[in-house]
Amino acid sequence: MSRPTDRRIDKLIHLLITNGTVVVPGPKIASEVGVTRSTVWTWIQKLRLLGVEIKGNPATGYQLTKLPDILAPSLIRPELGENEIGRKIVHYFRTDSTNSNALELATKGAPHGTVVLAEEQTAGRGRLGRTWYSERSKGIYCSVILRPPLSPAAAPGLSLMAGLAAQVALNSSTGLSVDIRWPNDLLINTRKVCGILTEMSAEVDRLHAVVIGLGINVNHTDMPPELKGIATSLRIEGGKPYSRIHVLVLLLKELERYYHVLLERGTGEVAECWAAVSTYARGKRIRVRTGSGEYGAVTAGLDSTGALRIRRDNGAEESLVSGEVLEVK
Ligand code: BTN
Repeated sequence: MSRPTDRRIDKLIHLLITNGTVVVPGPKIASEVGVTRSTVWTWIQKLRLLGVEIKGNPATGYQLTKLPDILAPSLIRPELGENEIGRKIVHYFRTDSTNSNALELATKGAPHGTVVLAEEQTAGRGRLGRTWYSERSKGIYCSVILRPPLSPAAAPGLSLMAGLAAQVALNSSTGLSVDIRWPNDLLINTRKVCGILTEMSAEVDRLHAVVIGLGINVNHTDMPPELKGIATSLRIEGGKPYSRIHVLVLLLKELERYYHVLLERGTGEVAECWAAVSTYARGKRIRVRTGSGEYGAVTAGLDSTGALRIRRDNGAEESLVSGEVLEVK
């Protein structure tokens, strides 16, 4: 069973950053963080394994040689201002699934806006029972606990809202052209760069909590052979590395913005914004895969509940509320 990152490691990272240009003696770090000097050494080694560049040793003291791109709460929270989403952040170096952690925290009463982050997932979960490839320190593995005053029937709207927020955040943080495939896969050049898994705990008529899990492929230089044709990363597409912190901060801000659009103006408004940025909304030839088979169709917009309107090749018009949409090339 993984445990969240010790808050004192977060303090250590923060201390090194605030003293960015000077060497900080080991005993000073130990006393400020509240651990022994040998624990400081162990944690420095752990951070190095995660790619944090730190010069020095117990005798000389320690100095960061480069600002680290680690999703430490102390580096993210100050960037979020008044955002409710991210006011509480739980960080793991390694966990099975941030969605599982978030669901558990939600049952224990974690407040609206709690965010769970991991540098690595050993059992990242995807939609339709799939797994999510979660390479260490390369991606953003993030789950957000929401407690909306809505009924369970509103859950698809939340999912659509999250896809839209992620599209806007990725577009503005990278300048790359990001598409959304219904309901909420983000694609660049037709390959997937971000997936969203929404899970909830609810009674018949009341949502207790919704967990929105987002996996973003950020700095992967390569994808495993079985994913190469269908998945990509921001780095592969943009030809340069991106700051995961910067992308995550924008993501959390856009989630906050579109969450309020959803609450104040409804799913219909979110669906309209979604359709404006997706090539999948209208006139796209697709194949629909369901539990019982596959069929061809053309898309015809989103309805006010967020369902995808389609015209099947057999002439029937329907609203798609679940299933998998595939492009026909
Ligand atoms: C999809 O299949 O497209 C959804 C993928 C969702 C992956 C994210 S990574 C963070 C969170 N934790 C999980 O186990 N899954 C989601």
